[in-house]
Amino acid sequence: MQPAYYDDFKEIHNKYWSMLDEAVANRNSPFRIPVFICANQDEIDGRIVVLRKSDRDNNLLQFHTDYRSSKINIIKKNSNASLVFYDKEEKIQLRIKVKCIINNQNSISEESWEKTRHISRRCYLTDDPPGTISKDPTSGMISKLEDFNYTMEQSEEGYKNFTVIQCKIKSIEWLYLAAKGHRRAKFDFENNNESWLVP
Ligand SMILES: Cc1cc2nc3c(=O)[nH]c(=O)nc-3n(C[C@H](O)[C@H](O)[C@H](O)COP(=O)(O)O)c2cc1C
Repeated sequence: MQPAYYDDFKEIHNKYWSMLDEAVANRNSPFRIPVFICANQDEIDGRIVVLRKSDRDNNLLQFHTDYRSSKINIIKKNSNASLVFYDKEEKIQLRIKVKCIINNQNSISEESWEKTRHISRRCYLTDDPPGTISKDPTSGMISKLEDFNYTMEQSEEGYKNFTVIQCKIKSIEWLYLAAKGHRRAKFDFENNNESWLVP
């Protein structure tokens, strides 16, 4: 039997939003770690990020990063980017085109920072920016950080680096692999239309 979303746009919307919501809540969800791709001229690059928020009402997805990371400079030059998700069990791929908003030291980053736990704050406490060349193999952290030997108060130092990337969805391309025949659909959020595509 085919699932309800096999040939129904509304059911597809319900399905992928439930998968995105689940990914934020469940660290084992395959949609938890999409590939984020951004580009400025020939600086085209992709990397895994952790999905931290999905907001159906506002067509928004969010992840966290370090303000000093190289993707920030790319996004500043070109805020158009892409998120790619795949769930092997569900056989569902999403290719989401987005417009990025960088949030650093504002109310959005503050709200997420408050919810960022001691253990996760460590990433934002390195002296040198991510991507800095090192003579020796390194975590970039002083041993105190490696041992989680810092107070919550000391972790506040990382707030200036902590950044929330809001990804406003422009379009979603859905691909569902099925033995009977694949299904591909495109949802254009900017022009508010949807269409079937040949897979
Ligand atoms: C499972 C996993 C989760 C990751 N989550 C994030 C994340 O949420 N944010 C982030 O900036 N980097 C994350 N990374 C690291 C990035 O993939 C990347 O290596 C890093 O951001 C540096 O890349 P860039 O500065 O060139 O963008 C994650 C990597 C892995 C393997």
